Amino acid sequence: MGRRSSIATYQLLARVTVVGLCVLVVAGAIVRLTGSGLGCDDWPNCNEQRFIDVSTGHAAIEQLNRLLSAAIGVPTLGLAVVALRATRRGSGLRWPAFGVLATVLANGVVGGIAVRRDLHPALVQSHFLLAMASIALALVALRRAGAALDPGPEPTAAPAPGGGLDGALVAAIGVLTALALVTGTVVTGAGPHAGERDVRRFGFDIGGVARIHSGVVIATVLVAGALAWRLAARDPLVLRSSLSAWTFVAMVQGAIGYAQYFTGVPELLVAAHVAGATLLWVLTVRMALEARSRSVAGAERGRPADRPGRFAGSAGSVV
Ligand code: HEM
Repeated sequence: MGRRSSIATYQLLARVTVVGLCVLVVAGAIVRLTGSGLGCDDWPNCNEQRFIDVSTGHAAIEQLNRLLSAAIGVPTLGLAVVALRATRRGSGLRWPAFGVLATVLANGVVGGIAVRRDLHPALVQSHFLLAMASIALALVALRRAGAALDPGPEPTAAPAPGGGLDGALVAAIGVLTALALVTGTVVTGAGPHAGERDVRRFGFDIGGVARIHSGVVIATVLVAGALAWRLAARDPLVLRSSLSAWTFVAMVQGAIGYAQYFTGVPELLVAAHVAGATLLWVLTVRMALEARSRSVAGAERGRPADRPGRFAGSAGSVV
């Protein structure tokens, strides 16, 4: 296989991995929201009697989720194998692929321990957050493959969004969105959707933690507004379309968040909230990677020609 076609395969596997992981997160939420978290009360066997059991609705839902988890192992493993066999060390394509594999395997173990520990909320929370780490790493892999296949046009003399204050604002949006995910999982851990009746919950007041969660979201949206204001006066349009998509999804997600809070967290809205959180995370990571690529390009521009940058000319030149 030529180097280009290897990277194209890597790119395809990274894309399938991102989509598969997002589907898996929503499927995991459906397990929780249908109260099927202990549909299989053992791991890796479904229960003491059977490895696979679909004899009840709850068991079938949990079983389907386990099947999906196993299926996502295929592109994940494929990505790591292609990275090892067909990319150069130092190309920047290996570590994100290995990172995805490591976090997905670790999450299989966390999921198993969560079942064996009767869905302790801290374990369910870690399961969700580790999946977000896998998605971020898969997006890094995808971005790096794209940059290796198409390094893009020569940088122009235009100012580089992504550097300086713009870069700091994008980084702040990333950190605050991650904090929104963490606080959201705390609200879930204190709320009624445990995945099974009568399992342990965080002892926090749900109204209090929901207020902290929505406060973090409001702070994130304010930072995004400041970035939009700075970018509005700018030419070219870089980062602006990423930020518009981010803002749109954040607004819809916030509206779903308030709607579910004031209507007693109905399952359908909570499922939509989990899907929205996952999509928003994808857009956040993509925006951060885009900003970083701009600032790297900007730094390269200011560098003397005889001192190539760390990223210059390599397969993973621009994240
Ligand atoms: C950018 C906007 C937001 C993001 C990214 C976000 C993210 C999340 C996440 C990741 C969870 C945990 C899902 C899980 O563990 O399965 C969650 C739960 C929750 N969020 Fe948000 N959220 C946002 C806005 C809001 C707002 C504005 C509210 C209003 C109060 C809100 C209320 C809730 C509630 C009540 C839960 C618990 C649902 C349950 O019982 O499972 N969210 N959120």
